[in-house]
Amino acid sequence: TPPELIRNFCIIAHIDHGKSTLADRMLQETGVVEQRLMRAQYLDRMDIERERGITIKSQAVRLPWAVVDEDGRETAHILNMIDTPGHVDFTYEVSRSLAACEGAVLLVDAAQGIEAQTLANLYLAMENDLAIIPVLNKIDLPAAQPEKYAEELAGLIGCAPEDVMRVSGKTGEGVIELLDTIVRTLPAPTGNADAPARAMIFDSVYDTYRGVVTYVRVIDGNLTPREKIAMMSTKATHELLEIGVISPDPVPSKGLGIGEVGYLITGVKDVRQSRVGDTVTTATKPATEALGGYKDPRPMVFSGLYPIDGSDYPVLRDALDRLKLNDAALVYEPETSAALGFGFRVGFLGMLHLEIVRERLEREHDLDLISTLPNVVYEVQLDDGTQVEVTNPSEFPGGKIASVTEPVVRATILAPSDFIGTIMELCQSRRGTLRGMDYLSPERVEMRYTLPLAEIVFDFFDMLKSRTKGYASLDYEPDGEQEADLVKVDILLQGDTVDAFSSIVHRDKAYPYGVMMAGKLKDLIPRQQFEVPIQAAIGARVIARETIRAIRKDVLAKCYGGDISRKRKLLEKQKEGKKRMKMVGSVEVPQEAFIAALSQD
Ligand code: GTP
Repeated sequence: TPPELIRNFCIIAHIDHGKSTLADRMLQETGVVEQRLMRAQYLDRMDIERERGITIKSQAVRLPWAVVDEDGRETAHILNMIDTPGHVDFTYEVSRSLAACEGAVLLVDAAQGIEAQTLANLYLAMENDLAIIPVLNKIDLPAAQPEKYAEELAGLIGCAPEDVMRVSGKTGEGVIELLDTIVRTLPAPTGNADAPARAMIFDSVYDTYRGVVTYVRVIDGNLTPREKIAMMSTKATHELLEIGVISPDPVPSKGLGIGEVGYLITGVKDVRQSRVGDTVTTATKPATEALGGYKDPRPMVFSGLYPIDGSDYPVLRDALDRLKLNDAALVYEPETSAALGFGFRVGFLGMLHLEIVRERLEREHDLDLISTLPNVVYEVQLDDGTQVEVTNPSEFPGGKIASVTEPVVRATILAPSDFIGTIMELCQSRRGTLRGMDYLSPERVEMRYTLPLAEIVFDFFDMLKSRTKGYASLDYEPDGEQEADLVKVDILLQGDTVDAFSSIVHRDKAYPYGVMMAGKLKDLIPRQQFEVPIQAAIGARVIARETIRAIRKDVLAKCYGGDISRKRKLLEKQKEGKKRMKMVGSVEVPQEAFIAALSQD
């Protein structure tokens, strides 16, 4: 297809504003999927994605669409719809999907208005110089306020309110007009046909039968079947076994030219050999310069993962090895803990990534896992000039520390203006710095903050939601590092450190953390024959203390707080005679006590 007949676009939207529904409707209207074959949310292929209603992996679909000009002449076009992941953990993947497009449909729920993710995605799209088509969705809803929100949206992107399109992904209203508008207003791709081939990888997915399927957008030159290709970041070459387009199933093609979007299969078995953001060229006539914007995925959050049943360790190892084939951002290494046994220290892009990985391990490999409190990555500068990267709090150096830096994010919060005070209070308590504030309308405000990643990964969003009665939305992206007064708090049982509970916290929060953890363990650890002190300490300085009084052995059951199903599970485990004791120094602690202490957070 000649580039002037191609349009590459994506749909950007806040979660639940109806992106998948609209995408499905476009597949239907363009005849790519017949109505009767329509499976709900065709694009979200993974089970977990479907259940949670989120899109993790981007995909691309080729849609034929003919527009009729004033003289009644029909011209067939090709639309490539590139799906973008919908969560903050995957900002980099979103930015690459956007970079593969010339334009974006900015989709806003006509009953909700602009939200934080709408803005964050719009900013990313603007950074990539995309043409924006503003669209209000769900106009069939009785609660829709298209007039009001068209005004808001027009104000935001600087167009007239009449230029804001109105559609319903559900009823199909306005969708044909939207497809026409995509052809008429988005620029066609341009590139150099005679230059050596350059294609950008915007997604790479592991398939059990076919190996890695790589999604690319051709920028210059062209790619043809049965040639050797090279990855420009690593110089690795691969045989090109198949090249094709998705519409909506994969169809082999004779090649991909400028502006075209499709997939490549090379037989590699690991997505690390085909990385998002990398440039594909031909091995025989390679391009000299890679396309800009390539970044290695960098894990932001680390946690220890341990099998509850120690004999499952090999299963966990195999499961991680398998998962890694499909997840270039997942890193891990073996780790042992006195409290939890053998496990792995695993790095994730963020909390959602962590949850997804954990859930897949438990569900697909039938594992019961416990994870330690997640932590971010710290850079520690010692007095003697050496620098240490700390991904596990128990490895925080004990010597003379010159400085510690932690990762920070740039957060966008959108909320009704009544909540400004509440939000400022919350952000301040999380060591945030206000960077700017704008009113989208008299009653809605956008607040921009710099916040330490460690302060928002766990419960920040929940707190924000509950304090704003659910009205605030949040989006954030990595924004470098900052120096901070951080210390390691250890928890000791009769003088011995319990590794799984060491935590790196701001000095002002060390005492509350120590008191909380010592109190919790006091309630969870059964009494021993002797008195057991529980201490929280920074280095050699004890900051909090509890004591477990000595008596005869206790029944475990009544000790547990926390959630009922977990408790029942623990009791069942005990009945099975599987009670596992861990020795911390001379203190005998059931592993379940550690698990309960960790799982309550
Ligand atoms: P994520 O993939 O989670 O980001 O969500 P999404 O933006 O893809 O939203 P999705 O298409 O899953 O729609 C979210 C909800 O809105 C679903 O319950 C849809 O049925 C509903 N919905 C989507 N479009 C429309 C519409 O045009 N009208 C109405 N009434 N409901 C819609």
